[in-house]
Amino acid sequence: MLHKKELDRKILLNPGPATTSQRVKEAQLVSDICPREEEFGQVMHDICDGILKVGNGLETHRVSLFGASGTGAMEACLVSAIGKNDHALIITNGAYGIRMKAICDGYGLKNSSLFEFGDYPEPAKIREALSSGKYTHLIMVHHETSTGMMDPLEEVAQICQDAGVKYIVDAMSSYGAYPIDLAALHIDYLFSSSNKCIHGMAGLSFVVFHKDRTDELKENGTGFYFDVYKQWDNLQKKNQLRFTPPVQTSYAFLEAIKEHEEEGLENRWKRYQANWQKLYDGFKELGFTFFLPEDQQSKILLAINLDKPGLDFNHFHDYLYDNGITIYPGVIPESKTFRVAVIGELYEEDMDYVMDKVKTYFQ
Ligand SMILES: Cc1ncc(COP(=O)(O)O)c(C=O)c1O
Repeated sequence: MLHKKELDRKILLNPGPATTSQRVKEAQLVSDICPREEEFGQVMHDICDGILKVGNGLETHRVSLFGASGTGAMEACLVSAIGKNDHALIITNGAYGIRMKAICDGYGLKNSSLFEFGDYPEPAKIREALSSGKYTHLIMVHHETSTGMMDPLEEVAQICQDAGVKYIVDAMSSYGAYPIDLAALHIDYLFSSSNKCIHGMAGLSFVVFHKDRTDELKENGTGFYFDVYKQWDNLQKKNQLRFTPPVQTSYAFLEAIKEHEEEGLENRWKRYQANWQKLYDGFKELGFTFFLPEDQQSKILLAINLDKPGLDFNHFHDYLYDNGITIYPGVIPESKTFRVAVIGELYEEDMDYVMDKVKTYFQ
């Protein structure tokens, strides 16, 4: 007999792992199964199709799944896509661009960087840099979760196409929320994970690649576990991943994908933006200021300046935590900030509850 455990609902304002629905949580409760069984292989294939549908890539793109956090997919993508004669230009305007540079440096993949922490990546400067003809790949984070900046995905896609440079996108904290058309933008590589805007559990991450990139992935891959081609190929030919996948997380992710399909990307994106606006207006009314100007804001995350006299982040965090709300510290060098994100199964009434508790704290 199954005993249903009643769980307190928590409001996670950290940018993933996110607040998930009861339905997604319950999807983890499945009979034990060996992941080499055909039935489970179908779950993996359905997840891949679902991921592609989210970005209109079913006809044009392919997916490799990894049992790993988002950084695993990031590492897999970079080490598989960039060959020994390539030279990547990395937009390092935040923590995750900088992390990608560290990975490339670690693997000895030739790279250069453009922009400093917090800079807006001006498309004209990217165009100018690519016009040198030196670069084979341009790597950019779409939503820089460290600052809350939405980088110009579409404009840079066009610039890369014009320059004949391959485009690698970290869409960790935007894929599933912001409408990304993989086919129309001709994105060569993109990666994200199960526990961000698709609202699954942590433990699975994925690399989406254009079909035209398949041969070079096969040629370039130097990772062992993190080999995008081998991982994809194995699932096609043997109907299973090469190594043990997170079984229960996979079932939950498939359920989250179904939930995403039912809500529809447009509606999810509207919901995120409305939730974000509530936080923005609420904190502004309380006298807070923000790290970024409004026109650069992602509407997914807000980096708030921690400059209120006497405000101690840990004390504020603990008060909210006791009320079922989790806020997140900042990571911007030389700036004191904290962060709130609207990724997850969160609704208008949750934002009202959050702002009500925040107001009570400051009273
Ligand atoms: C833009 C971006 N890239 C990469 C990552 C790394 O993901 P993970 O922490 O799951 O390894 C994150 C995590 O928040 C992120 O926001």
